[in-house]
Amino acid sequence: MGRHYYIAGNWKMHKTRTESAELAQALVTELKDGKHEYLVAPSFTNLETVSAIVEGTNIRLGAQNCACEEQGAHTGEVSVLQLKDLGVQTIIIGHSERRHTYKEDDALINKKVKLALKHGFEVILCIGELLEEREAGKVEEVCERQTVKGLEGVSAEDLANVVIAYEPVWAIGTGKTATPQDAEAVHAFVRKVIARLYGNEAAQKLIIQYGGSVKPDNAAQLMAMENIDGALVGGASLKTDTFVPIAKFS
Ligand code: PGA
Repeated sequence: MGRHYYIAGNWKMHKTRTESAELAQALVTELKDGKHEYLVAPSFTNLETVSAIVEGTNIRLGAQNCACEEQGAHTGEVSVLQLKDLGVQTIIIGHSERRHTYKEDDALINKKVKLALKHGFEVILCIGELLEEREAGKVEEVCERQTVKGLEGVSAEDLANVVIAYEPVWAIGTGKTATPQDAEAVHAFVRKVIARLYGNEAAQKLIIQYGGSVKPDNAAQLMAMENIDGALVGGASLKTDTFVPIAKFS
């Protein structure tokens, strides 16, 4: 199938520059023999520091967001050009905290996705339903909409640089994880949506990460599912003690 496991750490708005450097350095050492693909996404202010540490290692450098325009009068935003300049390879787009706390909609997210792909970045497009949407039986409807609209206008060629992260919002930072079976059902569904849009071969190659309270003691069960190809880890990515066992799950 050609898919591999891809474990990413989203550090969110945590850590000073010194703390980021310490964690990145420790991960470089601990993961150098790791068998999977890895990524860390520090805050914008810590990207340059972490970039120098992970460059040339098996850990990719990710940003947690980007502006929807290349440059201009956008106070407080960060451009893809600036991210590229720091060695960023991947941009996380449409994280649930961006969607729900900062009110980013599918159209804005789609604009960011296309801009990032145009500049040669890998994109991790996050999708996932709220608890009330799950309870109303709308999981597939929401995930399909976020996938289709997020990827509108993305070519088959560019899809090769897209990873999807399924992160049920009710599982993020709550300690509640989707069961491997529940997560697998959504992953399989999203792969079907991609097959419809881009064909079966592209769908089989797509990496779909799971996110939402991934921990050392649940990572292996989640990764054992056929359509779960990795993890986007928040809280547990902030310490080597918890991230390394996830990254080295077997
Ligand atoms: P969590 O966050 O692992 O702390 O639940 C996941 C995420 O938001 O990517």
